[in-house]
Amino acid sequence: MAILDKHKILETNATLLLIFSFLVVTIGGIVQIAPLFYLENTIEEVEGMRPYTPLEMAGREIYIREGCYVCHSQMIRPMRDEVERYGHYSLAAESMYDHPFQWGSKRTGPDLARVGGRYSDDWHVDHFRNPQSVVPESVMPKYGFLEKTRIDGRYIGDIMATNALLGTPYSDEMIENAQADFRAQADPDSDYDGLLERYGDKVNVRNFDGQPGVTEADALIAYMQMLGTLVDFSTFTPDASR
Ligand code: HEC
Repeated sequence: MAILDKHKILETNATLLLIFSFLVVTIGGIVQIAPLFYLENTIEEVEGMRPYTPLEMAGREIYIREGCYVCHSQMIRPMRDEVERYGHYSLAAESMYDHPFQWGSKRTGPDLARVGGRYSDDWHVDHFRNPQSVVPESVMPKYGFLEKTRIDGRYIGDIMATNALLGTPYSDEMIENAQADFRAQADPDSDYDGLLERYGDKVNVRNFDGQPGVTEADALIAYMQMLGTLVDFSTFTPDASR
């Protein structure tokens, strides 16, 4: 009973109750938050993740510029309907090189986190040119200008250097070769050995839009086709110790 009597002092004195509540919340807060400052990384490392190639990075910039994130999310939630429709739920590691992340907040169109490899390049070309030509009920706008707009990647090295500042592991070599790698990925007749050496041999090297030269459509389709394809989920097992 004694301890309850003492508790009565707290419960009948509003100021004291406030002070003690504050103390409890403070201790709880510190216990939760302080360890985070001593962790190098709160993201579980996952095999297969790599930074975007220069061409994919350019595609990502176009994705942001065009506001695709207004209608599309890139985050599959761990719920059955989502996993059955879109594939394995998104891992934190899969957006660790996204500055800023493209999780989005609204799905007028489907989630794109794993759209890579779901359609052919030609499908994407037709779809960007005129979405209604492949999905008659689509409300997605036309982006036909992308395949007509040539880009030379002159700023892509700067964008990668900025991402390196934010922690993306771009080496000096990757940044120096940015423009060459940018061109090589869209030209299967080029010498792209360096590109594969730097980013891995799973990188797609193709003339994505079938047009001569590098266009915005090449960059955007290169980006679409790699989304969600880096982690091999046939061998992935979540690390339960984290
Ligand atoms: C006004 C909203 C809207 C905007 C903006 C928009 N989309 Fe869409 N998108 C949709 C809708 C609705 C669909 C589903 C119908 C269809 O396939 O066209 C879709 C479908 C897609 C698909 C096929 C996905 C799948 O799994 O079937 C891709 C890829 C895509 N959009 C990419 C983009 C890109 C890239 C941009 C920016 C250049 C963009 N969208 C902008 C609404 C939008």
